[in-house]
Amino acid sequence: MDLFLRIRAVTLILLLGLLSIASINPKFSSGESDQVRCIESERQALLKFKQDLKDPLNRLVSWAGDGDCQWVGVVCHNVTGHVHELRLRSFPSVDDSASYDRSRLGGKINHSLLDLKHLIYLDLSYNDFGGSQTPKFLGSIENLRYLNLSNAGFGGLIPHELGNLSNLHYLNVGGYDYNLYVMNLQWLLVFHQYNTLK
Ligand SMILES: *[C@@H]1O[C@H](CO)[C@@H](O)[C@H](O)[C@H]1NC(C)=O
Ligand SMILES: *[C@@H]1O[C@H](CO)[C@@H](O)[C@H](O)[C@H]1NC(C)=O
Ligand SMILES: *[C@@H]1O[C@H](CO)[C@@H](O)[C@H](O)[C@H]1NC(C)=O
Ligand SMILES: *[C@@H]1O[C@H](CO)[C@@H](O)[C@H](O)[C@H]1NC(C)=O
Repeated sequence: MDLFLRIRAVTLILLLGLLSIASINPKFSSGESDQVRCIESERQALLKFKQDLKDPLNRLVSWAGDGDCQWVGVVCHNVTGHVHELRLRSFPSVDDSASYDRSRLGGKINHSLLDLKHLIYLDLSYNDFGGSQTPKFLGSIENLRYLNLSNAGFGGLIPHELGNLSNLHYLNVGGYDYNLYVMNLQWLLVFHQYNTLK
């Protein structure tokens, strides 16, 4: 019954529903003007998350201090201050692959991400998590609508727990660096049902 499907050199992209990512929620601001303060527990969660990351270029150097929601890659809601988006992709460069390599984040994804209860957007694409497994607990970030792990360097089994993300509109787990595979596709069906019922 289990369908064993090995995906190599293939991008698995699920685009469910007519979603324009740009329109996920226009009500966010990424900084400037009078800042709402970060939620303290979320600030702590981000710091833990940062601690377990490898960041050779020190891209996240702004992640320090008391947090006025002006941290690179972090988008907070302009009224509530909750962290809504983490935009942490890297940008491949054809002419300068050495600095691209250094710019990639790696290391471990700390469970503290689960403390970001309002997170709806997570982009870790083009980083290098060294072939480690896609963390199962990503499937518990309940409000996630957008998850982009394209070429993030995750390998191995794509956890069925991602099927628990009932709000997800976009999932990209594709990559070419490591052997990614799924053991059965049941969770995708559940996932599809969740999303078509909405
Ligand atoms: C929050 O952002 C929205 C959309 O950009 C804007 O209309 C609203 O006035 C902002 N609220 C505050 C308090 O800045
Ligand atoms: C997450 O970070 C905390 C604090 O830095 C650390 O104690 C914990 O071991 C980390 N968890 C994992 C799974 O790495
Ligand atoms: C997901 O990430 C890849 C790599 O960064 C990018 O090319 C793609 O456009 C992203 N998808 C969306 C819908 O933003
Ligand atoms: C996630 O989904 C699995 C089945 O794929 C289920 O057994 C598990 O209880 C779910 N976990 C949560 C936190 O919903």
